[in-house]
Amino acid sequence: MTNPSLLILPGDGIGPEVMAEVRKIIGWMGDKRGVTFDVSEDLVGGAAYDKHGVPLADETMAKAQKVDAVLLGAVGGPKYDDLDFSVKPERGLLRLRKEMDLYSNLRPAQCFDALADFSSLKKDIVSGLDIMIVRELTSGVYFGEPRGIFEEGNERVGINTQRYTESEIERGARSAFELAMKRSKRLCSMEKANVMESGILWREVVTHVGKDYPEVELSHMYADNGAMQLVRAPKQFDVIYTDNLFGDILSDCAAMLTGSLGMLPSASLGAPMANGRPKALYEPVHGSAPDIAGEGKANPCACILSFAMALRYSFDMGEEADRLEAAVEKVLADGIRTGDLLNDAGVTPASTSEMGNAVIAALDASL
Ligand code: NAD
Ligand code: IPM
Ligand code: MN
Repeated sequence: MTNPSLLILPGDGIGPEVMAEVRKIIGWMGDKRGVTFDVSEDLVGGAAYDKHGVPLADETMAKAQKVDAVLLGAVGGPKYDDLDFSVKPERGLLRLRKEMDLYSNLRPAQCFDALADFSSLKKDIVSGLDIMIVRELTSGVYFGEPRGIFEEGNERVGINTQRYTESEIERGARSAFELAMKRSKRLCSMEKANVMESGILWREVVTHVGKDYPEVELSHMYADNGAMQLVRAPKQFDVIYTDNLFGDILSDCAAMLTGSLGMLPSASLGAPMANGRPKALYEPVHGSAPDIAGEGKANPCACILSFAMALRYSFDMGEEADRLEAAVEKVLADGIRTGDLLNDAGVTPASTSEMGNAVIAALDASL
C-alpha cells in the first residue's frame, strides 16, 4: 500500500515556524508509530509571490488537487500590503479553497482544562467548552459577483456581493447536521434573515435539510446575537452552522474562549475523492502574526492540532489524533506555555520549538 500523501505549505510570518513543529511530529509518527507520509513542500502566499510573482503557482495548485491532504501554515504580512489585490498573499489561500471546492470549514473551539483560568472570560463560563463552528467556505460575500472598485459619478464605489445558492447552503448544512449527529445532536444556524434575503434563503434551506435529521434539535439565531451569546454563555452551543463571513468573525471570537487564537485548528473539507477521502486542507485559524514573526514566540498548538484533525478526518487515524491532542493537553497542564498563554510577566515563556519538543516528549511518554 502506498503511503498517504501530504502537501505542506508553510506560507509566511509564523507559518514556517509553527509548521516546523508539525514536521517534528510527522517524523515522530514515522519513527515511533510506523505511520509514514509522503511529504512534499511548496510555497504559498507572500513566499510564493516572492518567487513566482503570484501567491499560488499553477503547479502548486495542481499538486494540492492530487494529494490526500494539504497542511497550510499562514499567509500574509505587511510586506505585501501594497501589492495589487489580485496577487495579495490571501488570494493564494482563497484560490486553494475555491478550486479544491472545500465548502465545509470545521473550526472546533475547545477549552482545555489547563487554560480555563487563562481565558479572558470567567472560568465557569468557558471550562469544559467544546463547540464546533461549521463555516461555509467557498461562497458568500468572499466570492460573489459583482465585485470590485468602480467609478460612480465623481467618486468610487467598492462592491462585494453576498450570494448563496440553495445547493451551496444545503451541502454545508448536511455536513453540519452529520457532525451534530456524532456530537450532542444540537445545531444552531446563524444568519441575518432579518435584514438579508440570502439569510432568509439560508434559514429556509437549513430548516428543510433538518427534516432529514429529525433527531437533531435545530435552532436559528441572528449572527449578531450569536456573537453576543458566544461570549455570554458559549456552552449553550454545540454545532454552529454559518456563512463564510460570519464564520470568519465568529470563529476568531470563539478562539478567545479557548484562551488564545494560537490554539484554534481547522479542517476545510470538500467532496470525497476517488479513494474515498475528502478533499482536504488543514490550517490554524490564526494568521501570520507579523507582530511576533521571526522571534520564536508563536504558539504551535493550533497548527499541531490541525494536523491532529488531518489524522482524524483524512486518514481515519482517530486513535493517533486522540494521542496527539492528549499530548498537547498534557504539555499545557504541565505549565509549558508560549507567551500568548501567560499573563504573569515573571514567568519565562516557552519558545515555539520548546513547545513542540514538549509535545514530542509527551507523545513519547504516551507509549
Ligand atoms: P493574526 O491571526 O495573524 O494575529 C492576530 C493576533 O494574534 C496577533 O497579535 C498575533 O501575534 C496573535 N497570534 C496569532 N497567532 C498566534 C500564535 N500562533 N501564537 C501566538 N500569538 C498569535 O491576524 P492579523 O494580525 O489580523 O493578520 C496578519 C496577517 O495574517 C494578515 O495578512 C492577514 O490577512 C493574515 N491572515 C491569514 C490567515 C491564514 O493564513 N489563514 C488567517 C488570518 C489572517
Ligand atoms: C481565515 C482568514 C482568511 C479568511 C483570510 C486570510 C483569507 O482570516 O482563514 O480565517 O478571511 O477566510
Ligand atoms: Mn479569519
